[in-house]
Amino acid sequence: MEKLIINGPTRLVGDVTISGAKNAAVAIIPATLLIDGTCTLENVPNISDVKISISILEKLGVKIKWIGPNTVHIDTTNISSSRAPLDMTSKFRASYYMLGALLGRLGNAEVGLPGGCNLGARPIDQHIKGFEALGAKVNVSQGKVLAEASSLVGTSIYLDTVSVGATINVMLAAVLADGTTTIDNAAKEPHVVDVANFLNTMGADIHGAGTDMIKINGVKSLKGGATYSVVPDQIEAGTFMLAAVASKGDITIHNCVPEHLDCLTAKIEEIGGHVEINGDSIHVWCDSRPSKAIIKTQPYPGFPTDLQPQMGVVLSVADGTSIINEGIWESRFQYTAELNKMGANITAQGKSAVFEGTDFLSGAPVYASDLRAGAALIIAGIIANGETQLYNLQHIDRGYENIEAKFRNLGADITRVTE
Ligand code: EPU
Repeated sequence: MEKLIINGPTRLVGDVTISGAKNAAVAIIPATLLIDGTCTLENVPNISDVKISISILEKLGVKIKWIGPNTVHIDTTNISSSRAPLDMTSKFRASYYMLGALLGRLGNAEVGLPGGCNLGARPIDQHIKGFEALGAKVNVSQGKVLAEASSLVGTSIYLDTVSVGATINVMLAAVLADGTTTIDNAAKEPHVVDVANFLNTMGADIHGAGTDMIKINGVKSLKGGATYSVVPDQIEAGTFMLAAVASKGDITIHNCVPEHLDCLTAKIEEIGGHVEINGDSIHVWCDSRPSKAIIKTQPYPGFPTDLQPQMGVVLSVADGTSIINEGIWESRFQYTAELNKMGANITAQGKSAVFEGTDFLSGAPVYASDLRAGAALIIAGIIANGETQLYNLQHIDRGYENIEAKFRNLGADITRVTE
């Protein structure tokens, strides 16, 4: 078993470069299934969720070659199967994108129910509603989703809930459908826009991504043949912004899209941190104890749920009493029990938590319950006095490329050891 040993406290100082976005990459890789040809993807994060997506495509007969540390060449001219292996799809959440892509390209798909972080109930009813509206028959049984359609026909779809996954999945299924599809109440996250940009680069005709109404004019085929660079990871950039504030440090974050983080920038300035934007870099520093805040997580452009645990670490040592209301997931406060082991004073109940700011945290053995909880506990270990041992690294490796090397470059004393 692997663990991270972190010795703190450290004030983080220096520069860090952000990788490509996990949640864009894990959608764009399945989206390549719609191409009758090849494409090259750049800025692909080398993380375990990406590696599993690629392995699934290989099992479907796709030819894939890494031609650089973050560049991959994909040939989807021939697809030999529409059945994604269940043992692989159950390992991560974004396997649900295989459904929309295979349905769109081949007219049928068999995919295991998706796994991923345990954040409470994670239904896919809106994905299924969208596929059915396009004319597919969908059957969920024995842990599998089976979808098939003799033809997919464009239509108007209203999503009952703002869902990143359903928006992208319906877009994938509609790209090659006959006629025009509209998705109303669509998610507006940067990775939704990135998937639409990728598909348009390959020959699709999608308009309005980034607004709550997306229009997809079906095309006969996607020819591909192009190179596309995955958008920088908004959540990784936000993680380092919050690490700068929590450690009262000074970090310049390169290769990011600052406007994707407007909401976090506003909150950081509200609690006493400083943010300076220069092109695709964000300079964040904080020279005093952050003050209390009230946070509510919401779909983009609201405060992202995927930065809630990292913000929770900042508020655990802030001056005063803070409140976080989680607006997306039922069970995203599991990290607070671990922070309390480190001396925090957090009371979480249901989808709300109250943070009584303490002067400092102390190192302890702690467990990552999910990906972002893991990132938050790394930050907690860096600012805590003494040694923190962090377990369950498989969650962190799903979504952050070279995370301990990046923190080490900023001065953190952090080592991965195998027990
Ligand atoms: N929902 C439904 N029905 C559906 C789909 C979603 O009720 O058919 C509900 C969910 O239960 C949730 C809300 O709608 O309450 C939003 O869920 P969404 O579909 O947007 O989430 P997701 O697509 O499963 C993605 C990210 C998550 C991120 C959420 C919210 C990927 C692979 N995952 O999940 O990322 O938290 O959007 O922004 O894109 C992470 O990266 O750590 C992570 C968990």
